[in-house]
Amino acid sequence: MDSIMEATKVSFSYDEEPDSPLVLDGVSLSVHRGEFLAVLGHNGSGKSTLAKHFNAILLPREGRVMVDGMDTADEDRLYDIRQTVGMVFQNPDNQIVATIVEEDVAFALENMGVPPADIRQRVDDALKAVGMYDFREHAPHQLSGGQKQRVAIAGIIAMRPKCIVLDEPTAMLDPRGRAEVMRTLRGLNRDHGITIALITHYMDEAAQCDRVVVVDKGKLLMDGAPREVFRQVDRLKAVGLDVPQVTELMHELRQAGLAVREDIITEEDCVAELARLLEGSGR
Ligand SMILES: Nc1ncnc2c1ncn2[C@@H]1O[C@H](COP(=O)(O)OP(=O)(O)O)[C@@H](O)[C@H]1O
Ligand SMILES: [Mg+2]
Repeated sequence: MDSIMEATKVSFSYDEEPDSPLVLDGVSLSVHRGEFLAVLGHNGSGKSTLAKHFNAILLPREGRVMVDGMDTADEDRLYDIRQTVGMVFQNPDNQIVATIVEEDVAFALENMGVPPADIRQRVDDALKAVGMYDFREHAPHQLSGGQKQRVAIAGIIAMRPKCIVLDEPTAMLDPRGRAEVMRTLRGLNRDHGITIALITHYMDEAAQCDRVVVVDKGKLLMDGAPREVFRQVDRLKAVGLDVPQVTELMHELRQAGLAVREDIITEEDCVAELARLLEGSGR
């Protein structure tokens, strides 16, 4: 498959000393054009470090990172690489710079020298894409956490990147804000063809993605469709991760001797499986 972001045998340490401990240890990961990837891993496993390799904030000590055909070590391509891969971080307050929503979304475009007429169009498109167009004249500090994060995402979308890498964008949000951001990301992926790599510690978010990778101690431990990864409940628990609640429920029912499916990751499937079970028991 065609990859748009590709890490090949990447090793990295924050310490310059040659034999210092590695934070990334031979990571190879190919993110395919148009996919929605989730990256899971316990705290300190190297997820943020890996994310920062995808837009050349960090460069590998060994190995190579390619972004849409460009080597991130090639300084001449730095601008193009950052145009191709936008980054969104945990705290929306640290990413919002202006006092009016639409000015915030326009900020980077102005710095890039985009002509004013194009800026207007791009800001409107970006705000519509994240469902925040009606709030364009509001002050960011009056918005909810989920709305602020959507404005931060609009600021990235306005640069028309092919990929967005998000590092725990919902960690500071309430359940409603989290759901808003996930809905927005799914729309950007599906309707605008933007490739998304989402670092999250929410298993229900990972369950909504096309593919899940698990990072542990700087290495890639698992890689597969959400159903395939989450059915390995014991292996995930061994590296300090949970599974979606519905998967956990099915796992416990199975351990109690009931013949339920082990690849349940959505509430809908869980309800259907429970209904099937109850019918089977003659109720
Ligand atoms: N700027 C830094 N300087 C030194 N060590 C760091 C820095 N950032 C992260 N680390 C270390 O690198 C390891 C991986 O961190 P990180 O990539 O942030 O993991 P995660 O995002 O999975 O929690 C951790 O041991 C962390 O302490
Ligand atoms: Mg992190």
